[in-house]
Amino acid sequence: PKDSPLRGLNILITAGPTREAIDPVRYLSNHSSGKMGYALAAQAQRLGANVTLVSGPTQLAAPEGVNLVAVESAQEMLDAVEAHVADAAIFIACAAVADYRLAAVATDKIKKNADTMQLELVKNPDILATIANRPQPPMCVGFAAETQDVAHYAADKLKRKKLALIAANDVSDSSIGFNSDENAMTLFWHNAKGELEQKALDRAPKLTIAEAILRQAGELYGERNH
Ligand code: PMT
Repeated sequence: PKDSPLRGLNILITAGPTREAIDPVRYLSNHSSGKMGYALAAQAQRLGANVTLVSGPTQLAAPEGVNLVAVESAQEMLDAVEAHVADAAIFIACAAVADYRLAAVATDKIKKNADTMQLELVKNPDILATIANRPQPPMCVGFAAETQDVAHYAADKLKRKKLALIAANDVSDSSIGFNSDENAMTLFWHNAKGELEQKALDRAPKLTIAEAILRQAGELYGERNH
């Protein structure tokens, strides 16, 4: 589309889960399928952006015309994002990054002799916060997956994480959010006067939700860079 506010912009997107190795055959992960992040990548590409998609392991094929960078762990995802962020106008963090990784990954397969075992975990880097706190950050868009008080947490994250836009996902409803083909969310941002604004996106296919998020992001980008 000629009137697209995203035309010619470099957009960097994270998607999918991350996998944190326990030993050579086991890992910790979560239920993200990558569908939401891939939908954003496909729609951003269709709206004329140059898209780089940094993705954890998924069953999905890269959308046509999108530069896919495949990663496994949170640290690899951060490294890939940092390698591509310099020329990005907009960064969208849609990945469900594992919050913790193993303190030490076993080099050999762990034997199952003991009745109980303990894994020591250490906190992973927050990719979105790392990027938002760079000296010259791209415009940052975050997701919030909450099960309660969604609006409250989202508005707080918007300010604390220095985001332009946040898409709040109520993941307590298992028919939307993780792994499903549809989603519903509420977008939060600050208008030019600094007031909090919000827009509810009713339940729809992830491609439709993705387009609405991108149009809002494009509008905010235009306001900031006119
Ligand atoms: O992949 P699907 O099956 O389609 O599901 C889509 C989704 C539910 C995963 C997606 O819509 C979504 O909500 N993604 C964000 C999930 C999440 O991890 O939210 P959070 O509240 O833990 O994180 C907040 C934000 O910080 C997110 O933008 C996240 O990408 C980012 N983050 C979090 C932790 C971390 N270590 N690094 C990050 O960048």
